[in-house]
Amino acid sequence: MTSRLGTMAVQMAPSILNADFARLADEAAAVADVADWLHVDVMDYRFVPNLTIGLPVVESLLKHTELPLDCHLMIAEPDRWAAGYAEAGARNVTVHAEALQAPTRTLRMIRAAGARAGLAINPATPVEPYEDLLPEFDMLLLMTIEPGFGGQAFLDVVLPKLRRARALVQRHGASVWLQVDGGVGEETIERCAEAGADVFVAGTAVYGADNPAAAVQRLRQHAERATARAPWQQH
Ligand code: DX5
Ligand code: ZN
Repeated sequence: MTSRLGTMAVQMAPSILNADFARLADEAAAVADVADWLHVDVMDYRFVPNLTIGLPVVESLLKHTELPLDCHLMIAEPDRWAAGYAEAGARNVTVHAEALQAPTRTLRMIRAAGARAGLAINPATPVEPYEDLLPEFDMLLLMTIEPGFGGQAFLDVVLPKLRRARALVQRHGASVWLQVDGGVGEETIERCAEAGADVFVAGTAVYGADNPAAAVQRLRQHAERATARAPWQQH
């Protein structure tokens, strides 16, 4: 999948966590022409201290938007639920490494159910243990906040890990996308792109803006500009 607006591999995934949950169809429509994905944060009050939406809402949302859904499962029992999101029609399903007992099993289950498989790692989780598993997933999500809530400050301490992750992907010639999630906005998106990210989740920066579509377009421009001059792109 390439970005809609340019030749760079930048993809924008607005997060509906900060949208109006009573008007999800409208909120999705507000970014439908400018986003590549709609990022859906599923929280179970166990893996993270917050509760959001689950499979029934995702099933309903799928009937009301053409945007591919990027489901980010912040839940304690991904084995029990992940395949269900893929079967419902989510195009990508991301599970947290910290919640997985058998990563290859869960990631293969997601792919077998017809979705792209994403692996998410929290700020304190190292990327190196997952190097040999690169063929098992399609996207690596590096959390740039502690998961659970929107509107938190971006954690710059994750950037060295993002650079190492990009180097790993390049060394293996893998086609794994690198997604950043948390505190991504106009102030921080360029640092993420420069360090190696190519898929950008933004909640507050999009749905906290007066015009969410314009916000996505502005963020994309920043990301594309930074990608063009990023060291990892000069290969
Ligand atoms: C938080 C979620 C994020 C959240 C980001 O755990 O995974 O997707 O929506 O929100 P902002 O962009 O406001 O940090
Ligand atoms: Zn998320």
